[in-house]
Amino acid sequence: MAHQWRGVIREYFDRLDVTKDTPIITLGEGGTPLVEAPALAKLVGADRVLLKVEGMNPTGSFKDRGMTMAVSKAVGHGAKAVICASTGNTSASAAAYAAAAGIKSVVLIPEGKIALGKLSQAVAHKAQILQVQGNFDDCLILARDLAENYAVHLVNSVNPDRIEGQKTGAFEVVEALGFAPDLHVLPVGNAGNYSAYFKGYLEDFNAGTIKQVPKMWGYQAEGSAPFTVGHPVANPETIATAIRIGNPASWDLAQSARECSDGRFGAVTDAEILWMHRFLSQEVGVFVEPSSATGAAGLFKASKAGEVPAGSTIVVTVTGHGLKDAAWALKDEAGNQIEPQSVSKNAAEVAERLGLA
Ligand code: F0G
Repeated sequence: MAHQWRGVIREYFDRLDVTKDTPIITLGEGGTPLVEAPALAKLVGADRVLLKVEGMNPTGSFKDRGMTMAVSKAVGHGAKAVICASTGNTSASAAAYAAAAGIKSVVLIPEGKIALGKLSQAVAHKAQILQVQGNFDDCLILARDLAENYAVHLVNSVNPDRIEGQKTGAFEVVEALGFAPDLHVLPVGNAGNYSAYFKGYLEDFNAGTIKQVPKMWGYQAEGSAPFTVGHPVANPETIATAIRIGNPASWDLAQSARECSDGRFGAVTDAEILWMHRFLSQEVGVFVEPSSATGAAGLFKASKAGEVPAGSTIVVTVTGHGLKDAAWALKDEAGNQIEPQSVSKNAAEVAERLGLA
């Protein structure tokens, strides 16, 4: 019988901050595919580009790797409720893992700014959902405040258990390739995932499994790019709602990861994000949410500036599934709604319409 993947805590038990007494709340997260993307490699002039497809996690994003840790530890501490601020994916994940654990979840989301697929998940998993009149950064302040003063356990990535779980993405990349990539590229919001991948690679380096840590390249949306402007942004704006964050929670961790890996932060426009979102769907065959295309969009921008080293092997984490924020796929390049044409049941007519006749 084929081996059944057991979720990141059981698969990496010895490399995570858990003990025999930690209850394991898992939905089978991790073990996601590392997909060869020759069309993207050609576009950016690299030897190989591979996508770490995190949309294949149980709730459709990378958050599940951290949430299995955070909720398991919360339950281990006797928590009866978890709370998070979220642009959507964290709330979907927290709600699902809380349901699996039989505890409550509370999610605070920025009013009107989360994608419908993600909201439907939080509702489906019976989270208590409140839309806050503010942005994500306001929601996080509120969530921290409530967790400090009331009986709810915070599961945002300021909780180190989240970063700990998410570092397993790097372990899987190294196992799949047999070595570390030259560059690892990913979208950045709070910079928790950027910091987590670096932590994973650093642990592999310290264990002697890899010879060098990849350069970590993190990309933000231009209207929401505190790392490129060098300070928090008060009113972040971008269509990439998952990363519409002005004051990254993991600021210091991320800065040190960038320095230690000789990496970089950059920004791309919403138009560049949407272009890459379409390219990944149409040329690579991987459907991601727009925010998730931000890393690949940054890599393409860097390649146009001649900054992608020839002969390199590059891994790009695509963070969330396309169905999370499907409305963008139903628009053409000019922004018009796409509707399939209606036809009769006549084969000759259908063939004609398809240009087969
Ligand atoms: N990509 C997606 C699809 C995300 O949902 C997020 C973050 C990121 C990238 C950025 O990751 O914050 O670790 O730098 N989403 C959070 C949420 C903020 O609430 O779901 P990060």
